[in-house]
Order: sequence, then structure tokens, then C-alpha cells
Amino acid sequence: MAGDRGGRLAGKRVLVTGAASGLGRRIAERFVGEGARVLLTDCHEAAVAAVADGLGQPSILLDVTQQADWARAIAAVDAAFGGLEVLVNNAGIGPGGTVEETSFETWRRCHAVNLDGTFLGCRTALPLMRATTARDGTLGAILNLSSIAGVIAAANMAAYNSAKAAVRHLTKSVALHCAREGGRIRANSLHPAFIDTPILDNFAVRGLDRDGVLAKLARQIPLGAVGEPDDVAWAAVYLCSDEAKFVTGAELFIDGGISAR
Ligand SMILES: NC(=O)c1ccc[n+]([C@@H]2O[C@H](COP(=O)([O-])OP(=O)(O)OC[C@H]3O[C@@H](n4cnc5c(N)ncnc54)[C@H](O)[C@@H]3O)[C@@H](O)[C@H]2O)c1
Repeated sequence: MAGDRGGRLAGKRVLVTGAASGLGRRIAERFVGEGARVLLTDCHEAAVAAVADGLGQPSILLDVTQQADWARAIAAVDAAFGGLEVLVNNAGIGPGGTVEETSFETWRRCHAVNLDGTFLGCRTALPLMRATTARDGTLGAILNLSSIAGVIAAANMAAYNSAKAAVRHLTKSVALHCAREGGRIRANSLHPAFIDTPILDNFAVRGLDRDGVLAKLARQIPLGAVGEPDDVAWAAVYLCSDEAKFVTGAELFIDGGISAR
């Protein structure tokens, strides 16, 4: 039965971006554990192939900023699984810098990966998701990785703040568009705070090693620790499963209490 432990995503056909590392990888692992079939994608082809092989799932090169890559990936998921219910727009980069320190090139790259990539994903995947869910009588979901940084600004995250805020609002527009079309497809955003993945390697603090940086970040969190990839992956399982069939346009904070302040 779909509600049994281990089968919360039974039968779901899924595409995850940025699945070679960190949160995307853990989301793919948990989704497979819950019975989904997952096409793992990343701009690092060999790395994502290695992760996918370990899970017994297919993979494909997908640079989320490239329209042609998206077209190929959507065709590939249809060829592999015969349809698509779930899209997880996870790929992202987190450059630091104040508005004055941020070059125009970095600004554009940050928005290209985090925002354009999410836009292209929704736009390219929806026709197949719509056709699949209507034909097979299934329910679909889009999950976009925003960030606590998309809601709470910091002086030294100008480009990332902007891109992730836009992802949050784009998600609501997508949710309303899909709702108007009959409600088979939902869209929600996730807002993690500091989760221990390679993206935190960007948080350099003079005089501190990586553990020192994590300890410093943990002191900003009411629960007193940085998060683990599973803290995000289990939320993703819920939001992409039919357990969340009445949840759309929502934003879920996974931030150890930061946003409660
Ligand atoms: N870890 C955190 O603290 C945290 C907090 C809030 C939000 N997030 C968001 O979660 C998502 C995943 O981050 P993570 O922590 O796993 O980082 P990560 O660096 O471990 O993984 C990011 C993945 O995205 C891939 N990627 C980068 N650019 C890409 C592109 N153009 N096309 C396709 N793939 C690309 C990378 O190759 C990598 O595999 C990101 O959107 C990030 O902004 C992370």
C-alpha cells in the first residue's frame, strides 16, 4: 500500500537536478528508497553517473542553464520511464559577496543557475507532467529549492538573496497556474538554512577551518546545529508525495528555527 513505510513515492517518475552532490543526491536516494524511479541529472556527468549507478537508476548530463539540455533530459525521462510526475529543481550555486563586491558576471551566473534553471525546468517539464498525470490518473509535483536566504537577507549574499527570493515567488506563480489547470500538479518551495553539504565550503571565515565555520554557523541557529541532508530530503519526500495533495504554493522552512525569530 502506498502509505506503507518505504513506499511513499511508489510509482512516481522523477527528475532531480544537481543530483551528483549534497541535497540533490540525498533527495534522489530517499526517493528511490520510497519506491520512485529517478532520473538523476547534473552538469557533472561522470559524478552523477556514479551516484545513479549506485542506486540502479539512469542519469543524464543536464546543465540547468541550457535549454537544449532540458529538452534532452525531458525526452530521456519519457523514454526511460514512460512519463514524469515529479520535478525537483535542486541545482544551485551560492556565491557570497555584498552588492558592491559582486561582479556582474557573478550576479548573472547566480541567477542563471538558481533562477533561470528553475524557470526552464518548470517550463520544459510541465507539458510531459500534464500529459502523464492526465493519461495515467496520477498526481504530480514540482519542488523548487529556494533557501532561508530567499526570505531573510544578509549583507554578504546579494546575488543569492535575490535569486532565491525570485525562486520563492516563481514557485507560487507556477502553483497557481497548475491549480487553474485542474489541480493534478502542485508546486512548493523549500527553504533550508545551513545544511552540511559542499555548498558550505563557500563560507570561508578567516582563521577558521571548516569545522570552525560550521560551529560559527550553528551558533546562529536556535536549535544549535547546522542541518543534515536528510532534514531536507524527508521534507522533499513529503511534499512530492500524495500525502501533500492539498499543499501547493507553500514554503517550508527547514532552518532550525531561524525564521521564527
Ligand atoms: N546546503 C545548504 O546549506 C543550503 C541551504 C539552502 C538552500 N540550499 C540549496 O539547495 C540546493 C542544493 O545545494 P547543496 O547544498 O546540495 O549544494 P552542492 O554544491 O552540494 O550541490 C549542488 C549540485 O548542483 C550542481 N550544479 C551546479 N550548477 C549546476 C548547473 N548549472 N546545472 C546542473 N547542476 C548544477 C552541482 O554540480 C552539484 O552537484 C541549491 O539550490 C542550494 O542553493 C542549500
